[in-house]
Amino acid sequence: MNLGSVTLANPVMTASGCGGTGRELADFDALDAVGAFVTRSITLDPRPGSLPPRVVETPSGLVHTIGLQNPGLDQFLTRELPWLAARRTRTFVSVAGSTLGEYADLGRRLGRSPGVTGIEVNLSEPGDLGLFDTREPFQAARVVQAVRRDLPPGLPVIAKLAPDPTRIVETARAIAEAGADAVVLGNAAPALMPDGRPAGLSGPAIRPLALRCVHDVHAELPDLPLIGTGGITTADDARAFLAAGAFAVQIGTALLHDPTTAARIAAELQGEPT
Ligand SMILES: Cc1cc2nc3c(=O)[nH]c(=O)nc-3n(C[C@H](O)[C@H](O)[C@H](O)COP(=O)(O)O)c2cc1C
Repeated sequence: MNLGSVTLANPVMTASGCGGTGRELADFDALDAVGAFVTRSITLDPRPGSLPPRVVETPSGLVHTIGLQNPGLDQFLTRELPWLAARRTRTFVSVAGSTLGEYADLGRRLGRSPGVTGIEVNLSEPGDLGLFDTREPFQAARVVQAVRRDLPPGLPVIAKLAPDPTRIVETARAIAEAGADAVVLGNAAPALMPDGRPAGLSGPAIRPLALRCVHDVHAELPDLPLIGTGGITTADDARAFLAAGAFAVQIGTALLHDPTTAARIAAELQGEPT
């Protein structure tokens, strides 16, 4: 299965922020079985993340405010990426920035780093985290251009949107024209923690929403590669996204319940046409 110039062994990826640093999945022999591992979103400077409680269960998913906790680019490059590179894990590094300049820096430095298979641009953080505002499609496109600018040719860029069908086709078109090789649909849906902090809603509750986004974008832009994510827990869930027009899927919240979920779904889909 090809993504830009990269070949993935299968169409099942982990979703950003749900597979730890990769080591946690490797402990369950669940890292090598996926088509690609996506890191949590990495920012230029370290972020301590939100105060607890960070995660609350709902009847059909999780509400969470992680606050983009991450070690920052320098530590990611020295402590996390080399381990993934040594294992030859197909690694997409998710990036988030406060300015276009930060996105450009992240792209430039990651693009030169051994072990980076591709970049996932997070254009969809549901919380109030001071990230560059990409709600207007042209602003989302500027971010993709900034990341793309100094990357080695052929290194895939995928861009992840919020699962909001309202302007999804317009945004997907803009970022594809700006150089995204694929669009991830989508992130957690904007929600609120019980204590009133902005948060994201993930898990089975958002699956129909994400499916609708995949369906709508595929109907208008049938040649644009789409990666479906949102509440996928079983191989049948994944098949529903593939049937709606996605060529690959990402597994997030389900990994928190069972770290082998993505590997299991990949094994079940093996051999089926995508
Ligand atoms: C605990 C947790 C942390 C997450 N961290 C990130 C992140 O750092 N960057 C990002 O783009 N998405 C992040 N997400 C969103 C997931 O990658 C995924 O897009 C979303 O949860 C929908 O898929 P799911 O229902 O399978 O979890 C996070 C989700 C959860 C539950």
